[in-house]
Amino acid sequence: MVALRLLLLGAPGSGKGTQSEVLRRQFGIPQLSTGDMLRQALAAGTELGLKAKDYMERGVLVPDDVMIGLMRDRITQPDCVNGYILDGFPRTVPQATALDQMLKSVDSRLDVVCEIVVPDSDLLKRLSGRWLCKKCGASYHVEFRPSKAAGQCDSCNGPLYQRPDDTIETARKRLEVYRKETLPLAEYYKQQGILKTINGVGSVEEIEQRLLSAIGKTS
Ligand code: AP5
Repeated sequence: MVALRLLLLGAPGSGKGTQSEVLRRQFGIPQLSTGDMLRQALAAGTELGLKAKDYMERGVLVPDDVMIGLMRDRITQPDCVNGYILDGFPRTVPQATALDQMLKSVDSRLDVVCEIVVPDSDLLKRLSGRWLCKKCGASYHVEFRPSKAAGQCDSCNGPLYQRPDDTIETARKRLEVYRKETLPLAEYYKQQGILKTINGVGSVEEIEQRLLSAIGKTS
């Protein structure tokens, strides 16, 4: 096991979830996906889920105070002592400064931030063709990563579904929000000297190799 505190930064559909899953298995550290946490809360009908529902459906960000509280609870869990892969948090400058403070208070900091860059036309194609397993969350793509049997998960046979925020219209809104609210984080982490920029076009394996060489660690 390797100690690694990694943030994957990138637009909706850039492959953060796909690569987090690969790296999670490779390094044996948890993937902390705020999007997944919110979708689980929504499915369970918790107070957090109800709070987040409307924002998510519109493709805009859930308020910073909600997200900071959620991540503060998650990142202090025992499974995070050897590191983690952050996927979807921080997403605004206030979230990033709150994370820095959280980590500083336990004498810790991010090791590396990888920004995965993909052109908008590819992002829209990836989002509108994405299908997910309702049971285990595995991710497929109608063209780039099709399941063996249509509408069925290869690993658990669960039914596949499309995220309600993956319609072209909401996806466009999410890209706009990304550019306005999240992209400034690239400069924020560049100033800290920990930003690596990764070309996110290519096969999943090619991008994994680019990430591994940018991270500079092997499992
Ligand atoms: P979240 O779930 O985080 O969504 P996102 O950032 O929009 O990212 P995605 O999950 O859509 O994309 P991804 O980069 O993980 O791509 P993936 O690997 O799946 O957030 C959803 C919502 O929750 C937000 O809009 C917001 O409302 C709220 N939220 C979450 N965090 C928040 C926060 N911190 N603050 C405030 N609000 C927050 O890949 C996409 C598709 O492409 C898949 O089908 C995949 O198979 C395919 N693919 C992957 N790699 C490749 C490749 N190399 N080539 C071809 N296809 C590929």
